[in-house]
Amino acid sequence: MRRKLVVGNWKMNGSHAANAELLAGLQAEGPWVAEVAVCAPFPYLAEVALSLQGSPIAWGAQDCSAHESGAYTGEVGAAMLAEFGCRYVIVGHSERRAFHQESDQLVADKAKAALAHRLTPIVCVGETLAERDAGQTTAVVKRQMSAVIHTLAHCISQVVVAYEPVWAIGTGKTATPEQAQAVHALLRAQLRAASEHAGDMKILYGGSVKADNAASLFSQADIDGGLIGGASLKAGDFAAICRAAS
Ligand code: 13P
Repeated sequence: MRRKLVVGNWKMNGSHAANAELLAGLQAEGPWVAEVAVCAPFPYLAEVALSLQGSPIAWGAQDCSAHESGAYTGEVGAAMLAEFGCRYVIVGHSERRAFHQESDQLVADKAKAALAHRLTPIVCVGETLAERDAGQTTAVVKRQMSAVIHTLAHCISQVVVAYEPVWAIGTGKTATPEQAQAVHALLRAQLRAASEHAGDMKILYGGSVKADNAASLFSQADIDGGLIGGASLKAGDFAAICRAAS
């Protein structure tokens, strides 16, 4: 039985005051049966780590460099994150693929860099609305996943996968539990062909997950939790989703 995982992706939101209030609120609401983590913007990671010391809530970053170190202005290395206790790092979020032209191979290289420093990459895949309408959902998510499978080889079982249909992100248009499950099942089958441990891997769903739709999504056979954007910014809303996963 896979333990559910709920991850808050704060994206480019937060401030000293807002983060302190959110983390205090979350710690008052927990703990939960599900594993819970928050992924904060880089400048706040140290203070998030400090506030969560001794808490079962883990923390992570929203990106990392594919490079080890060197002349890469503005980038943050996986070794740096690992040095102060980071657990997760999101790679290949659709906002980075779209706004920063991240390729499937770059995303795979970032996942590899994260694993080299014992961080757990949360690898995001997902189709746009145009791709779904053109009947390309399966081809797109398989292509995105396949770059990571080929780059990581037998280490693939150490990643967390997040299926985030681009058309469902921040739009209030959640995939139905059946639509999401269908893609999760095909991703699981693809992972199974690459690793005997695919049955233990977590595949999260993301895209307009809220307290009132979380339980039906999380009840699907291959949905092992969620990657939550907007609803992770309010302690009460995020806690309700964590409860729905428990
Ligand atoms: P929303 O929950 O705001 O739709 O965002 C989902 C997401 O992109 C999480 O990474």
